[in-house]
Amino acid sequence: MPDALPVITIDGPSGSGKGTVTQRVAAQLGWRVLDSGALYRLVGFAVDQRAIGFEDENKISKIAEELDVEFKDGKIFLDGREVTDLIRTEGAGNNASKVAAMPGVRAALLDWQRGYAQPPGLVADGRDMGTTVFPTAGVKIFLTASAAERAQRRYKQLKEKGLPANLAALTTEIEERDARDRSRAASPLVPAADAIVIDSTALSIEDVVETVLQNARRVYPATS
Ligand code: DC
Repeated sequence: MPDALPVITIDGPSGSGKGTVTQRVAAQLGWRVLDSGALYRLVGFAVDQRAIGFEDENKISKIAEELDVEFKDGKIFLDGREVTDLIRTEGAGNNASKVAAMPGVRAALLDWQRGYAQPPGLVADGRDMGTTVFPTAGVKIFLTASAAERAQRRYKQLKEKGLPANLAALTTEIEERDARDRSRAASPLVPAADAIVIDSTALSIEDVVETVLQNARRVYPATS
């Protein structure tokens, strides 16, 4: 039985479309969103800013525990400074992936993430939402797409934001980041045993959103 509080988890590798699907499903249902990747990006960014290197897990976990973050009107502030776009670069994604491999960092962010589960419901986007953070979620989705397709999507996204992008470099970075996320010991990127796996390579965002909504209505019939 799923928990009384409705939770949909949407996990998968970078560029699989999780972020967009999460936003649209949450908007349709009127539920909250947890963008857990942003939390790891914020920790990576804070570590980079402090120039302490990416080796000392104790120090980095402490930074994660004490992170001074504010989410306001679609913007993200770290130590009072707006970092919304700064944490979206590929460099910030790579730094996020490094700190995300540290069990101490993952532990520091766990309760914070669980705190997002509030009425009327939550759509949580990440890598371990269905396996570790919300193991009793009623609907678990694992969204994939080929690495080439994901690199293309990321390239388009970055260009649209006016950020620098190189397709070949992006493909390599995506493959490296995936390999690190899948092979780490702490909460690796794997589908939960009860996840619905959707390959979005040849699907539109609308198709994926509709599949998720159908499952949400089936499991949580009170959902509009
Ligand atoms: O989804 P994203 O690209 O913003 O995530 C950035 C990095 O954070 C990604 O390489 C893996 C890590 N991450 C994670 O380990 N667990 C999560 N729940 C979310 C992100």
